[in-house]
Amino acid sequence: MKVLGIETSCDECSCAVVEDGKKILSNVIVSQFDVHKPYSGVVPELASRAHAEMILPVYREALKEAGLELTAIDGIAATSRPGLLGALLVGLSFAKALAYTRRLPFAAADHIRAHLYAPHIEHDIEYPYIGLLASGGHTLITKISSFDDIEVLGATLDDACGEAFDKVAKYYGFGFPGGAAVDALAQKGDARAFRFPQPSLHKGEHRYDVSYSGLKTAAVNQLDMFHVPGCEKSPANIAASFQKAAIDMLLTRVFRAAEDTGIRRIAAGGGVAANSYLRSALASQRGFEIVFPSARLCTDNGAMIAALGFELFRRGRISPWTETAQARVAAFRKA
Ligand code: KG4
Ligand code: ZN
Repeated sequence: MKVLGIETSCDECSCAVVEDGKKILSNVIVSQFDVHKPYSGVVPELASRAHAEMILPVYREALKEAGLELTAIDGIAATSRPGLLGALLVGLSFAKALAYTRRLPFAAADHIRAHLYAPHIEHDIEYPYIGLLASGGHTLITKISSFDDIEVLGATLDDACGEAFDKVAKYYGFGFPGGAAVDALAQKGDARAFRFPQPSLHKGEHRYDVSYSGLKTAAVNQLDMFHVPGCEKSPANIAASFQKAAIDMLLTRVFRAAEDTGIRRIAAGGGVAANSYLRSALASQRGFEIVFPSARLCTDNGAMIAALGFELFRRGRISPWTETAQARVAAFRKA
């Protein structure tokens, strides 16, 4: 089954064709970096307008790259939530109109579920596993026991992990988008130059939660307080030390969850899963099966929507035409 996946929840306009949830025939991603760069952050209204301009050419390119006509497509999936409302509406309306006129099945896809599902495209993952989702909007540590059984063990109490990267990068002018800029700069830095604090959330209901407000304040306003004497206060050292503290926070929660549940399988998704320090730190853990999507499937992309759509169609879950965009996160089961 060939599924067209459409993703427009934030600042990437993407259309992809994926066969049977595994074979990526095309995955066209056009980022709006240039549109938002002057503001060092995504401007929702500009994002919607840019999606409206881009969606048709991106869709055409996705079919062309796959070497297919629309008649060869068996189903259409689009992100319906969560995200920027206007941006979501562009992709969703486009998908519904296309599916309706062609009498194709349509599936509304949850963006968070799609990020968590992305590792399945390139890997056969057995259940259960600990699923980490770290992106610009969300940070979740989950126990995934089956396709539908996703239990949230921990989340962020304030900023999302990627958001913290973006804010620190914006403050220091490291570049936009922030996460990738910090990652690149950190390669040249010494992560021991600043000993940034970690939140002490070890107990009770916050055992798997993270919080980035303290780290962000430390990295932006209290540099001197956490500076290790003798080390240079260079941008690269700030980036490397911040990155290590931000990612280590995720790693301690993920391994705590693995330890507590006895699950030795971990899969990561979302933009921050493209981070080189996170990838090498996770991959070097012995005794665990660690799964990552390739970097292009970590950040927002249509292929993960198509793959999730395939799984929904396979289960007969066709969405009604009344399905609409929603800015907020759907409720997941809480531990
Ligand atoms: O999944 P994504 O593309 O969009 C959302 O659903 O939010 O994630 C974007 C986030 C941004 O905050 C970006 O700075 C971060 O992922 N990001 C990274 C890296 N690449 C993207 N963060 C750290 N290191 C990276 N290499
Ligand atoms: Zn995303």
